[in-house]
Amino acid sequence: MGSIDYLPPLRYEGQETDDYATFTVAPISGALGAEVHGLDVGSGLDRQQFAELRRALLNHMVLVLRDQDLDAGGLVALGRTFGTLHINPFVAGLADHPEVMEVRSEENATARFAGRWHSDITWAERPSLASLLHARIVPPFGGDTLFANMVLAWEALSPVMRRALDGLKAEHTAFQGHDRDASLADAPETVSHPLIRTHPVSGRKALFVNEYFTRSIEGMTSDESRSILDFLFRHLVRPDFTCRVRWQPNTLVIWDNRCTQHYATNDYPGARRLMWRVTVEGDRPV
Ligand code: SIN
Repeated sequence: MGSIDYLPPLRYEGQETDDYATFTVAPISGALGAEVHGLDVGSGLDRQQFAELRRALLNHMVLVLRDQDLDAGGLVALGRTFGTLHINPFVAGLADHPEVMEVRSEENATARFAGRWHSDITWAERPSLASLLHARIVPPFGGDTLFANMVLAWEALSPVMRRALDGLKAEHTAFQGHDRDASLADAPETVSHPLIRTHPVSGRKALFVNEYFTRSIEGMTSDESRSILDFLFRHLVRPDFTCRVRWQPNTLVIWDNRCTQHYATNDYPGARRLMWRVTVEGDRPV
């Protein structure tokens, strides 16, 4: 048999309805991501709005909400409606709201918080369920964030490749991207997660390795592991699986880390960019 072409499914079995009573959604690509119109999250969400927002997140994986005038307390309160917030040991939070991590790039920055595809905190035993990123200062152009759909990336692999990968485990570490210092002496060097995880709500399988934090595939030689990971890192960010978010001040983006990866572009030399992120803790991947 020759090569296998992949056609993305328009809807998947069990997908929730995409009609909402409290806002409207407009997809931003065929792969994932939607703009949400008509919802002001800063004024507090009632039960129906929150339930619908969660359903929209399940359906679209990345939600973009414009003109959300949020202070740090408002961002924390919104984040907490999704679950417990994580405090990042590597990036200092705000003094009065340690859960709010600053993603800051100054005009003269020599290194930026950018340039590597990942899902948040996969180096933790319980990686993130979702992240909420609020734009404070955006460059006049550039600084967009790309997202990729890890369910599509998994489903686009051939049945032969899927059989070979399913059931494998990979080691993740924070220490490829961060220096280890004395304050992190108790942090685990590596954690082990399934290479393919099952989303706890949708039940869909998704690729769960990323170039920032995944070090190796367990039980393989380093050559085997490197070759397969290199293939997967290329494959999982095929443009067909992605969408691109252009930021404006007060844009809020919420993404599901269990089935997406993201990439902050580093294309705005000499300009400032400041975002606030809260990261919701998730389950142990299975
Ligand atoms: C992040 O990796 O969470 C930050 C993404 C961004 O700054 O666009």
